[in-house]
This record gives sequence, structure tokens and C-alpha cells, in this order.
Amino acid sequence: MSRTVYVNGDYLPEDEAKVSIFDRSFLMADGVYEVTSVLEGKLIDFDGHLARLERSLAELDMQKPEAFDDLLDIHRELVRRNDLVDGMIYLQVSRGSAGDRDFVFPDPDEVKPTLVLFTQSKPGLADSPAAKTGIKIISIEDIRWGRRDIKTVQLLYPSMGKMMAKKAGCDDAWMVKDGFVTEGTSNNAYIVKNGKIITRHLSNDILHGITRAAVLRFAREAQMEVEERSFTLDEAKEADEGFVTSASAFVLPVVEIDGTTLGDGKPGPVARRLREIYLDESLKSAI
Ligand code: PDD
Repeated sequence: MSRTVYVNGDYLPEDEAKVSIFDRSFLMADGVYEVTSVLEGKLIDFDGHLARLERSLAELDMQKPEAFDDLLDIHRELVRRNDLVDGMIYLQVSRGSAGDRDFVFPDPDEVKPTLVLFTQSKPGLADSPAAKTGIKIISIEDIRWGRRDIKTVQLLYPSMGKMMAKKAGCDDAWMVKDGFVTEGTSNNAYIVKNGKIITRHLSNDILHGITRAAVLRFAREAQMEVEERSFTLDEAKEADEGFVTSASAFVLPVVEIDGTTLGDGKPGPVARRLREIYLDESLKSAI
């Protein structure tokens, strides 16, 4: 079935939606994005994603799209028009098209940002088999740029990381900088040792995950101990448990790192409990 997508004010069948070949997201990766999960037809953590989008735009000196204040309605309209029950909404804003290729940013009075949104249907998203078995990861060097806190569409290296993992018979990769784990290719990374949840502190080195913020809040509310600090790959391999968080994956247990089994090789109790709490609580506040 053809999806209805949104491009700069219009709802269109996906094969009629068009963006210029001079669009700066296409030529320069000059764009930012958000992925919001949809469960039971409702948006999860929408306010957080909107706030981070606003921040990404500001950090890159990119204009807000005209429809910025209507984004909730646009998300809901796409859910409605596509009968979306479980899945995601992808949103991308680019600096637009100046009608040619030029490294210099175009004048924002003349060139308006491009806004694109589309849905991805994933029936049973919250019941993924990976949540029951856990995932296996490899480690790779983090060679990305220094502003990983901005959610840009420069995803070539994360994409290569997923392929390296696939080639190694694994599900994903954790990236390592100077011996310390930064994050997963498309998620934040955590370990658990003696009941304590350890995850890298916020800085320009990682994306400030919206799921991360919610999960850490729920963990603290449930009296779990949380430590936000860097951890090494060796420490991770000796941990009792590991897990990742993101919109779409929620909380996903990690059971193996570079061939080393964590704990008994099954999803650990902390990750399982956090997944349950996160899904329960975020469904309650879904809009
Ligand atoms: N990725 N770190 C990176 C590098 C990410 O790409 C993501 C999200 C996260 C988790 O952020 P959040 O909890 O806000 O989804 C962390 C999305 C899901 C993606 O690219 O599809």
C-alpha cells in the first residue's frame, strides 16, 4: 500500500513526493532529523523529540520550518491517513535548496528549509523477538565528527557500523573513543554492574537520547542506582548486563560483546524491568 507522506505543506502519495536534487541534505548532509515511535496509534515522547529538533536546528543556525508549531498536528494527521498503529514517524528538516551547489549557507530570507515526514509501519513493534533473546554487538572505533549531540542526517558511518556487525554475525555495534564506549550506531549504550546502571554522561560525544532521559528518570523513580560516566570496553565485557535505548528499540538487552557473553547470556533482570516500566509509562503518557 502506498503511504501518504508530507512534504513542505502537502500530503502526497509517496511516489508523487519530490525534493530538489539541489537540496542541501542531499548534497551536504545539511539536515537534521527525528524519529518518534508510535504505539497503539499514539506518539511516544513527542515533546522530547520536538525539543531536541529545535535544539539541533539552533545549533546549526538553521531556520525552523514554517510549520514548526503544527508538527504535532502533522504527526497525528500522518498516523490517521496511514492507519498507523505501531511504527515510527521519520521527520527531516534540511537547509533547503538554493538551486545550485555551494558550500556557503544560502540566505535564510531567500531559501526556506525543506520539511519531510513519513511513516514506517512496524506491527507489533513493542513485542520484538530481540527483546526476548537480547542482541549481540561488536565494538568499532568511533570515527564520527565531534558534534554527535546534533541529530544530523550524516549517517554513513553508523550505517557502515551496522554492516560490520552484520558481517560478523551480530546485530549492532558500540562505538569506542579512546578506550571508552560512546554509544551504539543508533542508540545509547548502558551496562549494569552489581545492580548499578552505568551510561556515558551527556556531552558533545553522544546523542542526548530522548529514550535515555525517560529511562533514567524511571530508573531513579524505581530507586535503581544510576551512574552517568564513561565506561571502557573491558568494563562492559565484565558487566552483569548490557542494554541499549532508542525510539523504536525502546530498551533492548545486550547479551554479547565482541564474542564475550554477559552474565548467563540471557536478557538481564534490570534491562527486562526497565523495558517493562518504559513501555508502560510511555504508553500512559503517549499523545
Ligand atoms: N536513532 N544515539 C544515536 C547515535 C542515535 O542515532 C539514536 C537514535 C540514539 C537514541 O536516541 P532516542 O532515544 O532519542 O531515539 C542514540 C534513531 C532511532 C534512528 O536513527 O533511527
